[in-house]
Amino acid sequence: MFRQTALKSSRSFARQWSSRRLASTKTIREALEEVIPAKQAQLKALKTEHGSAVLGDVKVEHLIGGMRGLKSMLWDASVLDPNEGIRFHGLSIPDCQKSLPAAQGGKEIIAESMLWLLLTGKVPTEAETRQLSRQLAEKGELPDHIVKLIDSLPTSLHPMTQLGMGVAALNHDSVFQAAYEKGIKKSEYWTYALEDSLNLIAKLPALAARIYRNVYKPENDIPGINKDLDLVGNYVNMLGYGDNHDLTEYLRLYIAIHGDHEGGNASAHTTHLIASTLADPYLAYAGALYALAGPLHGLANQEVLRWQLNMRKELGDNITHEHIKEFLWRTLKSGQVVPGYGHGVLRNPDPRFIALQEFCETRPALLADPVIQLVKKTYEVAPAVLKEHGKTKNPYPNVDAASGCVLYHYGLTQFKYYTVIFGVSRALGALTQTVWARALGLPLERPKSLSMDAIEELIKQ
Ligand SMILES: CC(C)(COP(=O)(O)OP(=O)(O)OC[C@H]1O[C@@H](n2cnc3c(N)ncnc32)[C@H](O)[C@@H]1OP(=O)(O)O)[C@@H](O)C(=O)NCCC(=O)NCCS
Repeated sequence: MFRQTALKSSRSFARQWSSRRLASTKTIREALEEVIPAKQAQLKALKTEHGSAVLGDVKVEHLIGGMRGLKSMLWDASVLDPNEGIRFHGLSIPDCQKSLPAAQGGKEIIAESMLWLLLTGKVPTEAETRQLSRQLAEKGELPDHIVKLIDSLPTSLHPMTQLGMGVAALNHDSVFQAAYEKGIKKSEYWTYALEDSLNLIAKLPALAARIYRNVYKPENDIPGINKDLDLVGNYVNMLGYGDNHDLTEYLRLYIAIHGDHEGGNASAHTTHLIASTLADPYLAYAGALYALAGPLHGLANQEVLRWQLNMRKELGDNITHEHIKEFLWRTLKSGQVVPGYGHGVLRNPDPRFIALQEFCETRPALLADPVIQLVKKTYEVAPAVLKEHGKTKNPYPNVDAASGCVLYHYGLTQFKYYTVIFGVSRALGALTQTVWARALGLPLERPKSLSMDAIEELIKQ
């Protein structure tokens, strides 16, 4: 009931704003300034009028079950429905594909239009999107000390470890931290959090590309940032694949739709927790990247590809559904999870997986790729096997079931790097919430923990 009401109100919010695509040329800060007072008033009313309203029970199973399903965080930008998947301010992925501006010369959603939607709840105009692209491009170069730091790391260090280190070290120039030290009013926190967040989002492509080049292609120079390109256009360019339009479009879509997935997922939640201590956005997001580096979360995309390639190596090219079924059972019987399947919240195929599959459907070269065909065939078999296995609550594919294989097709074959791309993306949603947490004056996060003895005692009472 609560979920339905929340969904309904966020959908009407989206309809209201998506129908107002005027020729606005606001900056993202001006657009935010406009919407913050109404949200502050909404929060104040919730607190004073409904502060003691009950939203659900806390059960012992929540404490021992990773708090699954426990309604315990405020998060405005996206809502994850177990059956229909993610909506960003009420807009589903197909809605976003219809209404969010693409890059010049492109068709797919871009990081900037998604960031604008996440931050302001509004669909940006074309002019606003271009303006944000330029703003980010102007901030995109890395400071020298970060270049030196990343270049000094052993290339055997996992790319995610390097990314987290680079992001943490960017806090050298945190305006939030500097302003806090000087002493600022709480009502101004969000403006500094916004500046840091935009700076970080702007620099992530150059940082992530430098890691890629150092580890995998040290012989080539990295091009500078092109101020006329969007964030992902520049990223792909710096990775060294700028002439591949299809890969650029794929990464635009991938990065935009990976941007946010509610607040309770490990990386978003980590950002929120760390930032609630008033640590600056760089430190908060560095922590998130290490949560993302776990195989049950972001590392799954690297694991999926490894697993599919092993399947192909073992079974050869003419793989039948029966072969896949046997391979799946072998994976399960050896006590491993099937990577790319299952989800903490979703109970249907992930619409992000579907969007990436649809991207493949429109490109004959992708459809002809044996690894992509294998992903599709696995999807035709795996849900039934996982249902029969009977453990996972969601036998369907999540986004990671498809994402890495397309990168592999386009020549980005270093799958240890894939989670870094996810890390560039998740910043959009996680940092949006950091800005909003400061705008709404949300407090330090500090849930109550209980020992097993204390739980037993409470049950007796
Ligand atoms: C995503 C994931 C971590 C969610 O975990 P969860 O919320 O605990 O999932 P469930 O409640 O469905 O798990 C219940 C049981 O099913 C198992 N299970 C879940 N997904 C499974 C999968 N893909 N293959 C085999 N077993 C799976 C769990 O390990 C758990 O077993 P246990 O009781 O022995 O501990 C889990 O589905 C998983 O490990 N998937 C594979 C990794 C992956 O694709 N991650 C990317 C997520 S976007």
